[in-house]
Amino acid sequence: MDKLVIQGGGALQGTLHVGGSKNTALPLMAAAVLADGVTTIHNIPVLKDVATFSNVIRVTGCTVDWAPDDDPDTPETITIDASNIHHFEAPYDLVKQMRASFYMLGALLGRGGKARVSLPGGCAWGPRPVDLHIKGMEALGARVREEGGYVIAEAPGGRLDGGRMRFEPVSVGATINVLLAAVTARGESVLENCAAEPDVVVFGEMLQAMGAQIDGLGTDTITVQGVEKMSPVTFTNCPDRIELGTYMIAAALATPPGETFRITGAQPEHLGPDFTERFRETGVPVRFDGDVVEVEGVESIRPVSIETAPFPGFATDLQAQWTVLMTQADGPSTVRDTVYTDRFKHVPELRRLGADLRVEGDTVHVGGKGERPMSGATVMSTDLRASVSLVLAGMVAQGETDVLRVYHLDRGYERLEGKLQRAGIDVVRETYDEAHAEGVAA
Ligand code: UD1
Repeated sequence: MDKLVIQGGGALQGTLHVGGSKNTALPLMAAAVLADGVTTIHNIPVLKDVATFSNVIRVTGCTVDWAPDDDPDTPETITIDASNIHHFEAPYDLVKQMRASFYMLGALLGRGGKARVSLPGGCAWGPRPVDLHIKGMEALGARVREEGGYVIAEAPGGRLDGGRMRFEPVSVGATINVLLAAVTARGESVLENCAAEPDVVVFGEMLQAMGAQIDGLGTDTITVQGVEKMSPVTFTNCPDRIELGTYMIAAALATPPGETFRITGAQPEHLGPDFTERFRETGVPVRFDGDVVEVEGVESIRPVSIETAPFPGFATDLQAQWTVLMTQADGPSTVRDTVYTDRFKHVPELRRLGADLRVEGDTVHVGGKGERPMSGATVMSTDLRASVSLVLAGMVAQGETDVLRVYHLDRGYERLEGKLQRAGIDVVRETYDEAHAEGVAA
């Protein structure tokens, strides 16, 4: 297995470049399945999740062409030829690797009026149900049953009717999945309490480019007039907003006072106003200029409490990284997650590095920068965003930090150690024997 070995205390210098958005790339790839022909999508990040989803799509008989090169700064292009789709299934061995594979439910129903998709398994941070996805398909007229761990859905007569669905709570994944199915339904669909994340909006824009009739993207209520068929297109994915937020936090933590660190290829408005305002409140100067973000290093960081919420609120995917930032602040703060109320697997690991953290319900109490600095240790990745928070912590902890099980990190951060090395951080990837590693419970 791979681990990252980080020498703490290094200064960030130069530039980090933001890759294409993971959470947008996956629904864009699912959208390509709707069209009879070859769809081309630019700015696809080089990530394990993209490779996994390519395999999910290939099972259906579609051809996926994706051959990333080794240069982390060149955007990659994927082509998906969905002309020969014939197998309307997403099998367990692939879906269990990545929940977003469940998007095939909407994509296959939308394309062919039938789908057999494995239920996603458990998740590293508590139960993440798919009940809204299934209710949404039923609301559009699908007949759905569960059998042997699979969801089997069919549109009577081969095509969905359309219908009305209210999502409670707001769900990014369910909004996307139901849209995939609704665009080719016979009639109108009205979707209420929809997610307004940029991932959903950019995905909806690709559907529109393919011929879908959609109103209300980015608002609470989305209305779809079904069309007979979708056309293949060429489309460009947006930059990854979570990667941008992570790099801004890295820059606040590791840029020497008075020096400026640059992040390029960004789309800052996708962060949402809440994150940006909270970031400014820390007293860390930040400037936005087109697709460039400049962060200036400071002597001291002000404590700022946050609470996650659906967009335009503070993204839950940045909560673990914010917790690390607050361990270096001048006083105590709280980090509350209202979207995933028990997403705190990183906390015990950060405590191993000496962070002053205490979980109470859906809130982490962060003590701030104490008398004793954090110091390196062996820690374990448990999920994607938890992993990157451990890398950030390793950058500020004194001495060496070994972050084990970095396969979680590889799911969502494009060649992170290469990018950080070039920005001055001493971090290397090494293989280790899991059976004998320190920090791994038997
Ligand atoms: C997506 C993101 C993930 C992010 C999350 C919230 C992708 C691939 N993943 O996940 O990185 O952390 O949005 O911004 O884009 N819920 C239900 N029933 C459902 C579906 C969801 O109750 O059928 C609940 C969830 O338990 C959670 C809330 O809705 O409390 C929001 O989850 P959701 O937006 O669906 O997250 P994902 O789409 O899985």
